[in-house]
Amino acid sequence: MKNQTTSLKLNTSYVHDNRLGPHRLSEEDLHGLAPRVRDIIGEIEAERKAGKHRFRELPHERPQVEDIKRLVAELRPDTENLLVLGIGGSALGNIALQSALNPLTWNLLHSSVRNAPRLFVLDNIDPVWFEAVMRMIDDDWGRTIVNVISKSGETAETSAQFLIVRDRMIQALGEEEAVQRIIVTTDQAKGTMRGLIDAERRRLGVENAYRSLIVPDGVGGRFSVLSPVGLFSAAMCNIDIDALLDGAAAMDAAVSDPDPMANPAARLAMIHYLYMERGKSLHVMMPYSQQLRDLADWYRQLWAESLGKIRPADKKNVGPTPIKALGATDQHSQVQLYREGPNDKLFTFLEVEEFDVDSVIPRAFDDVEAMAYLGRSREGTLGGLLAAEKRATELAMLVSQRPSLTIKFPAVNARTVGEFIYLWESVVPIMGKLMGIDPYDQPAVELGKKLTFHFMGRVGFEKLPPEME
Ligand code: PA5
Repeated sequence: MKNQTTSLKLNTSYVHDNRLGPHRLSEEDLHGLAPRVRDIIGEIEAERKAGKHRFRELPHERPQVEDIKRLVAELRPDTENLLVLGIGGSALGNIALQSALNPLTWNLLHSSVRNAPRLFVLDNIDPVWFEAVMRMIDDDWGRTIVNVISKSGETAETSAQFLIVRDRMIQALGEEEAVQRIIVTTDQAKGTMRGLIDAERRRLGVENAYRSLIVPDGVGGRFSVLSPVGLFSAAMCNIDIDALLDGAAAMDAAVSDPDPMANPAARLAMIHYLYMERGKSLHVMMPYSQQLRDLADWYRQLWAESLGKIRPADKKNVGPTPIKALGATDQHSQVQLYREGPNDKLFTFLEVEEFDVDSVIPRAFDDVEAMAYLGRSREGTLGGLLAAEKRATELAMLVSQRPSLTIKFPAVNARTVGEFIYLWESVVPIMGKLMGIDPYDQPAVELGKKLTFHFMGRVGFEKLPPEME
């Protein structure tokens, strides 16, 4: 990427390669769209000054970060379990940060190695899973902090979990101690959760009851990972949240570049949009890194919920379908389809140049070539093999005229992950404007919520919603 302060590298050569034949996008195709995108970048910058696109300001709001750090410094030393209750945008970023930036075996590590709590993010209401996690906490509520995250404070799944967990904590610890162990991340002024915790604080008169962190106004769930929503659990688990925000801030400079050809968010938006126009609306993100796997899950929500809409201008149903795949695992599951199935996909590979650790493949069985080459190769490490497999897959795709691009992480660390998150978030409003839709709403999820209230007997929802008639 052009901006010297960012370290992710975007390689789009297998979008432009002649071997793609009719599936190739030329630089001229991008230049054709560039004037419109230049205007869009200008519009977004102007709207940003007027208070829109609020997520763009998050890397710069450092006083809030100091508040989080103070709370973490107080809580972390005596906390063995951090239980996050949230769903969708109130959980996916937390999960992605933890798996990218801490060992995937974090919860299995001895507490003296972790020096921070185990993290459980309960982003579903499956009772078997829920109770399994409760057993892990094993009545150790006195060393557990619960972070309830809900911007609206209305979400049935999170509210149900909160009611159960609060009740069990009160039974174990008594109400006065229990409520000091519950941190609520929600809107500053609006919503059921806000009203409830304010009222409970008044009722209880306990100083640290239901302490709260704020989901900033105008920042929707799927854009909130760099706000207290994602930062609190990350900081509790020793993730360097300053570096995360520094990476995002550096990317802010890069994605503010008015030149669409040099602006990485604009370039990604143009490529995705032009391919969608040409019938490739399945967008596969395929990290060749276990650490980055859950970032692809986070991206899936960002892309789907932001861009799958009815376009107001013509009432047409529009939107790409994001797909998550994992290299090398899914080479043995998906690549057959990707190469020989319909040519309706654009692939984004995530590649890591240098893994934190690597495992040398020992040389053995010299007379069994199917084994021997692995240890003999110059690339004879698991990281080397993974890199070779990524290279092999992108070339195999190219031979089948399947376009792909690569985002290269020099290393997976808080800074590069911050860059990545901010980059994709910034692609979304450009895509929204190109597609003529509002990327910040999610009207289609409302009906399901109302029907759930109806089936669960919530007062005010006795009748089926009018859309059902
Ligand atoms: O991105 C979104 O807006 C949604 O996925 C929400 O995050 C999700 O529905 C949970 O909402 P809330 O945080 O209000 O409980």
